[in-house]
Amino acid sequence: MGAQAVILVGGKGTRLRPLTSNRPKPIVPLVDRPFMAYMLEWVAAHGVTDVVMCCGFLADEMVREIGDGERFGLSITWVEEPEPRGTAGALWYAEPHLRDERFLMLNGDVLTDMDLSAQLAQHERSGARGTLALVPVEDPTAYGLVRLNDDHSVRGFLEKPTPEQIDTDLISAGAYVLDRSIFDLIPQGRLVSIEREVWPRLVGEGLYGCVHRGRYWMDIGTPQRYLEATQDILFWRVRTQVAERLRDGPVAPSAEVGEQTVVDRASLVDEGARIGARVAIGAGSVVGVGAEVADDVILENAVVLAGARVGQRARLRDCVVGVGATIGAGVVLGDHAMVGDGAFVGEGNALSHGMRLAPGARLEPSTVWF
Ligand code: GDD
Ligand code: MG
Repeated sequence: MGAQAVILVGGKGTRLRPLTSNRPKPIVPLVDRPFMAYMLEWVAAHGVTDVVMCCGFLADEMVREIGDGERFGLSITWVEEPEPRGTAGALWYAEPHLRDERFLMLNGDVLTDMDLSAQLAQHERSGARGTLALVPVEDPTAYGLVRLNDDHSVRGFLEKPTPEQIDTDLISAGAYVLDRSIFDLIPQGRLVSIEREVWPRLVGEGLYGCVHRGRYWMDIGTPQRYLEATQDILFWRVRTQVAERLRDGPVAPSAEVGEQTVVDRASLVDEGARIGARVAIGAGSVVGVGAEVADDVILENAVVLAGARVGQRARLRDCVVGVGATIGAGVVLGDHAMVGDGAFVGEGNALSHGMRLAPGARLEPSTVWF
């Protein structure tokens, strides 16, 4: 049997609304599959065979979409938390399902191809109680800052540092190898943050960092980063199974593409999609399963999810159109506009500046130019 991984998916994902208004973040569609599929494919590739998924909010839907893990070569145990106990408290709910003396723990919101096998090997070699995956980032303020000694032991951990506290670019990437003895440091029965209460206590007591340079890593929590991740997958900047699929070209076999339409290689027109004539599907764009795009439309890093419909001459750039939504003729969407599932944007509207339309909302023709 291979390694076990606990994946934390208890967060609400509010910053990704409206994509997360009606579904939990782990099953937000990203290119052609639910986000969690990338994580599961990644861990399976590093020898993980068992996953304990710790979730709260809307778990039923998640279970339905991801299932028992068989199609990923994994066995998934679903653990529903009666109340949120924080990133460390959640581990107590996973504990009855843990089999080995060491296990992996992963934040459920990162897209990455980090070398987990190397991290497991370092953990064994160093005799650590905990080994944190580390990646360099430009701005560590939104993350957990990690100060490292030359022997890779952790000298300091600072969750969400202020700009003055920053003296390294290394942050915790949300992937840990942990020894079971970690439970001695987690009080039971209350909310406990692993970042604020456990890591600081482990400093000097067996906490190590494994630096993953040259690998891809992204926390997909905001519309900007969601669209960036979409591009990065389509540009093969991160190793995913989508890249394999795109080897045969960006247009799926059952999709239809009209005359004089141009489809960039770094995009995806998925099964059953119908694209009209003289359409430009630019790099970083996705037209989901069964979606319809009418004549003379321009897409640039635009995501049109399954079953959505886009009217003639619409121009979509850096935006997301939700599942089954309708975009009228001549509509302009840009600058991280997000249209919720099943919403309706009548013709002659223009939405940009990160504007978000709730699932099912209805915008009458020519009402918004923003
Ligand atoms: N089950 C469960 N229960 N999961 C939880 C809970 C809880 O009570 N609270 C948070 N989570 C999950 C979230 O769903 C997410 O997958 C993960 O734990 C981390 O929580 P976030 O809210 O996304 O934290 P963050 O992104 O601000 O910071 C964390 O991740 C950074 C890397 O992306 C920290 O671990 C930082 O240290 C780290 O740098
Ligand atoms: Mg996060």
